[in-house]
Amino acid sequence: MDFVGNHILSVGQFDRSDVERIFQVADDMRPYAMRNRITRVLEGAIVSNMFFEPSTRTRVSFGSAFNLLGGEVRETTEVKASSLAKGESLYDTARVLSGYSDVIVMRHPEPHSVAEFAQASRVPVINGGDGPNEHPSQALLDLYTMRQEIAEQGRGVDGLSVALIGDLKYGRAVHSLCKLLGLFDDIRLHLISPPGLELPDDIVKAVQANGHEVHAFHELEPGIHGVDILYVTRTQEERFPSQAEADRYRGLFRLNQSIYTQHCEPNTVIMHPLPRDSREQAQELDDDLNTNPNLAIFRQTDNGVLVRMALFALVLDVVGEVDNHAQPVTWYTAKRHLSAKDRGVR
Ligand code: NCD
Repeated sequence: MDFVGNHILSVGQFDRSDVERIFQVADDMRPYAMRNRITRVLEGAIVSNMFFEPSTRTRVSFGSAFNLLGGEVRETTEVKASSLAKGESLYDTARVLSGYSDVIVMRHPEPHSVAEFAQASRVPVINGGDGPNEHPSQALLDLYTMRQEIAEQGRGVDGLSVALIGDLKYGRAVHSLCKLLGLFDDIRLHLISPPGLELPDDIVKAVQANGHEVHAFHELEPGIHGVDILYVTRTQEERFPSQAEADRYRGLFRLNQSIYTQHCEPNTVIMHPLPRDSREQAQELDDDLNTNPNLAIFRQTDNGVLVRMALFALVLDVVGEVDNHAQPVTWYTAKRHLSAKDRGVR
């Protein structure tokens, strides 16, 4: 696809070479994200970060990514703090905000709302999550992390086997990730969900139509055998018709060190889009995995900055200019990215 000036709304826009292009640009962003040097390539540019649903990582990492490229961030973090609460339409909000910014990142609880907003926007819009539908930047950073983790075993994404665990019905990160993985070759998916929270049929069919293997499970243990990656997710309780219904699913699948040791290969990678629900009744990813060197959750969050920098650089057409605006770092910089050699360090 042509990235310049275009919206990023769904992973369905990408083919394999687009994904590889994003990853290559993300790799080039590493020295800036690690504060080895800074760049001012987006000096004067403004991103509007419009988050009408709770967010920590996506909002702050999109903002940090833009700042790391030298740009400014404006943000609204709640519907009630914006004019949407006064009945303003997405159309009007988009017309207004696109007059204030060069690019907009938006998260909204309604499926396809970000696409509707983008139609009225005069500047590129990036989908930061539209209800249970899609979360393209999360899927990109997840796949980028998988590629990095598996490269340490001397392999690529082709031939990867991934167990997706938990709420596969409402989990937008999983929806986008399955579609992205489908662009590669010989993928095997183990879909582990409680009855009622299965991956939507259209996504399963699309993955199978591309010739990949899909196996469904309703129990954790049989599903986590023989895979390269465990991708654990939270019950998306905010999407359920009632809290009581969400509570029925809480804590059904809990991965901890003892289950991991018993059922997984010694180098099986553990991932989660986060937040993990650490409340007593949930704990889908136990704290006792924190020292497991294959726990990649904080490598995922670090990689989110690289991938989001890449998206901004591609959409705003500055990829070739980033290094021309580089400067040395003048302040004390702590060690940042957790790489292979830091594994197990908390
Ligand atoms: C995910 C989301 O918002 O869809 N979080 C995130 O952006 N990292 C997953 C979740 O909330 O469970």
